Amino acid sequence: IGSAALLGYLLGSIPFGLLLARFGGAGDIREIGSGNIGATNVLRTGRKGLAALTLLLDLLKGVAAVLLARQLMPGSEVIAAVAAFFGHLYPIWLGFKGGKGVATYAGILFGLHWPLGLIYGAAWIGVLLASRISSLGGLVAAAVAPLAAAFLGLVEIVIPLIACSLIIFWKHRENIQRLMAGTEPRIGQK
Ligand code: G3P
Repeated sequence: IGSAALLGYLLGSIPFGLLLARFGGAGDIREIGSGNIGATNVLRTGRKGLAALTLLLDLLKGVAAVLLARQLMPGSEVIAAVAAFFGHLYPIWLGFKGGKGVATYAGILFGLHWPLGLIYGAAWIGVLLASRISSLGGLVAAAVAPLAAAFLGLVEIVIPLIACSLIIFWKHRENIQRLMAGTEPRIGQK
C-alpha cells in the first residue's frame, strides 16, 4: 500500500503546466493570471498547444498511476489514484503548492472505471462549453463524480471520491468567490 501511494504521489506531483510553460518559453506560470499551474492558466499565456499538452499530461499521469498500480500491485488502484490526485495538488517539489486537480481527477476516474471518466468529462466539457468558465466546469464535474460512482454501484470508491471532490472545492475557494461575485473570467478573456 505504501509503494502504491508513493508511486501515485510521484506521478501526480509532476507539475507539467509549470514545466511546459517554462521550457516552452512562456515564463513562470505561477506569476501569470490566477497563478495556478493548470492548463486553464497556461492558456492565459496565449500558448494553446502548451495548454492542450498540459491538460493531456495532467490527465494521463492520473491514468498512468491507476494502470501501473493495477499491473504492479493489484488491489491498490484506489490508493494510487488518490495519491496521484494529492501529488498534483500538493507536490513536494513546489513547496506543496500545486494545481487544482480537475484534469488529474479526470485521469484517475478514467483509470478506475472509464464510464465514470466519461460522465465526469461530459459534465466538465458540457458546462465549460455552455459557460466558457473553466472552474465552473471543473466544480460541476467534481460534484457529479461521487454521485455518479454511487449511481453506478461503485460503493468502494464513493468515500474517496467525496474526499477528492471536497478538496477540489477547497482548492477553488477563490474561484468560487469570484463566481459568486460574477467576476470569474471566461476562457479567452484576460
Ligand atoms: O483546473 C483549474 C481551473 O478549474 C481553474 O483554473 O486558473 O482559472 O484558477 P484557474
